[in-house]
Amino acid sequence: MPVSDAPVSAAISARRSVRKFARLAVDGDTVERLVAIACSAPAPHHSRPWRFVHVASASARERLADAMADAWRADLERARESVHTIDRLLKRSRSQVTEAPTLLLACLALDEVRRWPDKTRRLAERDMFVQSLGAALQNLLLAAADYGLAGYLKGAPLFCPEPVRQALDLSPDWHPAFLVLLGYPDKSGAQALRTPLAIDAHLITR
Ligand SMILES: Cc1cc2nc3c(=O)[nH]c(=O)nc-3n(C[C@H](O)[C@H](O)[C@H](O)COP(=O)(O)O)c2cc1C
Repeated sequence: MPVSDAPVSAAISARRSVRKFARLAVDGDTVERLVAIACSAPAPHHSRPWRFVHVASASARERLADAMADAWRADLERARESVHTIDRLLKRSRSQVTEAPTLLLACLALDEVRRWPDKTRRLAERDMFVQSLGAALQNLLLAAADYGLAGYLKGAPLFCPEPVRQALDLSPDWHPAFLVLLGYPDKSGAQALRTPLAIDAHLITR
């Protein structure tokens, strides 16, 4: 199916995860603008359930990297991964966290969820808020391109929210979800092409 060249569709289609960055800092105003545009996402009950931590200082990044590494190491050891694999994975993850030009932690605030009496509706309610965080992050990644920036998401904090919360001294109401790593792309490597989309696998009509 041809991709539209209308500007919004073209920007959405052009967005890719970028994991290699030029050694250039991103200024604080730009970070603020990107978070503001993220917060224009649709959300349940007219809420704004997104919270962002700009993890800017080297010491905060070290604490975060240590906390995530300890949690992941424990998971990997339980899964009986080899020492070599564990070291390789943790080393890569640490350098991603400490070296990204800009590091944001995206959290969810759930204080506006409706308190349903049954588990099914409580889960559905939570899902609605989680979806809205995806929308906010997509906003942020798309808007980043307007500033010449690109980046990617890491879902690791979802797997160790409490150590992440402690490392960054966050309120218990902030639920750590994603890291957003951003910077000016290092254009030396070619981006792999997307696999062609078979629309019939994604859309049916009844
Ligand atoms: C919920 C979520 C979690 C992700 N976690 C990671 C991650 O931990 N590490 C990573 O390198 N990329 C991560 N990504 C990026 C995906 O790998 C990427 O979006 C996917 O490969 C499609 O490539 P594209 O973004 O270039 O279209 C994540 C994306 C999403 C939406």
